[in-house]
Amino acid sequence: MSKILVIHGPNLNLLGQREKDIYGDTTLQEINYMLEEEAAKNLVAVEFFQSNHEGDIVDTIGHSKEQGVDAILINPAAYTHTSIAIRDAIAAVDIPAVEVHLSNIYAREEFRHTSLIAPVCRGQISGFGVKSYLLGLQAAIQLLQV
Ligand code: DQA
Repeated sequence: MSKILVIHGPNLNLLGQREKDIYGDTTLQEINYMLEEEAAKNLVAVEFFQSNHEGDIVDTIGHSKEQGVDAILINPAAYTHTSIAIRDAIAAVDIPAVEVHLSNIYAREEFRHTSLIAPVCRGQISGFGVKSYLLGLQAAIQLLQV
């Protein structure tokens, strides 16, 4: 069975209480449950990792090949705009990755308009709330099939 690693970056553990007008009131646990159901329907396994620490995310990506991960779905959160280390980790492991954002980062503050991660991903989905994750998972599943 193919395995997709879902990585949630900093502060996404606070979803459901954090800036609800921007991110909605769905919790991270609820998002993960939703993804698990969608993955099961498609006969794909999902694993979840959330961290507020850049190095832990880099380590997890770096070990993903030996963990048998076939695709990565990542919301790098604030690290989207700052982390060359996460970008390099994705490029280094050469596992197809899809970037997702709940909010439309291009319709927000200018510092959010740049993603350092997007160029090493197969694509990016931004702005559809919780559905960004579902669309991202579907995109990652498509990548497994080509
Ligand atoms: C986010 C957008 C980022 O700019 C922000 O720092 C986040 C969440 C999103 O999902 O919309 O933490 O990645």
